[in-house]
Amino acid sequence: MKNVIIIGTGGHAKVVTNIVALCADNLVGFLTSDTHMTSFLGKPVLGADTDYAHFSDCEFIVAIGNQYAREKIVTRMPDVAWYTAIHPSVIIPYEHCSIGEGTVISANAVINPYASIGAHCIINTQCVVEHDNTIGDFAHVSVGAMLAGNVHVGRRSWIGVGACVRNDICISDDCFVGAGAVVVKDLCEKGTYIGVPAQKLHKD
Ligand SMILES: CC(C)(COP(=O)(O)OP(=O)(O)OC[C@H]1O[C@@H](n2cnc3c(N)ncnc32)[C@H](O)[C@@H]1OP(=O)(O)O)[C@@H](O)C(=O)NCCC(=O)NCCS
Repeated sequence: MKNVIIIGTGGHAKVVTNIVALCADNLVGFLTSDTHMTSFLGKPVLGADTDYAHFSDCEFIVAIGNQYAREKIVTRMPDVAWYTAIHPSVIIPYEHCSIGEGTVISANAVINPYASIGAHCIINTQCVVEHDNTIGDFAHVSVGAMLAGNVHVGRRSWIGVGACVRNDICISDDCFVGAGAVVVKDLCEKGTYIGVPAQKLHKD
């Protein structure tokens, strides 16, 4: 049994709390920037994320949906052991697949062979990560999104809820793909892409 500390006290932290329990690991408590909180979901709030060094016998996971906030916290916590949270219902190949430390894979996600998922990613509920996909660190594949075979998702990129990405597509770093979008061409520059087929969103 692992001793786990979750960083964050928002909605994603609730999801990760559930996974820790289902994996029969021991949730020690939470670290959060909300200095007024003393407990969350019946577990103690132990301090701010900057207090992590007091808990050297624990593994940590940053359960914050915003990828930039997640990366910032991870970067200032060198040399800690990271907890990887995989819901027991996830379909995952018994070999030929890699999952980076600190990553969360939620209920009913499907990961197929030769997929490579980076560190501190969120692979959300009921999404599909097909064969030979490469997912960069801190990326987020949202609820119900589908990545066909041989797709690359860059670092910190976010695939919105229910979006689809055609096979053999490359999505560069720091892209937002809107909810329900269908990506049929490479997204070569950072930005927000929406619609069917997905087009860059230009705001005035
Ligand atoms: C794409 C997205 C990031 C844009 O957010 P935003 O930059 O705040 O943009 P706005 O909400 O101001 O919308 C700008 C325009 O794009 C349209 N738009 C926004 N999202 C859209 C989408 N997913 N599909 C089609 N059109 C969309 C809006 O209707 C608006 O059009 P208008 O100017 O004609 O009124 C956001 O709408 C989105 O889809 N986020 C994904 C959320 C998600 O998947 N969460 C998952 C949690 S697990």
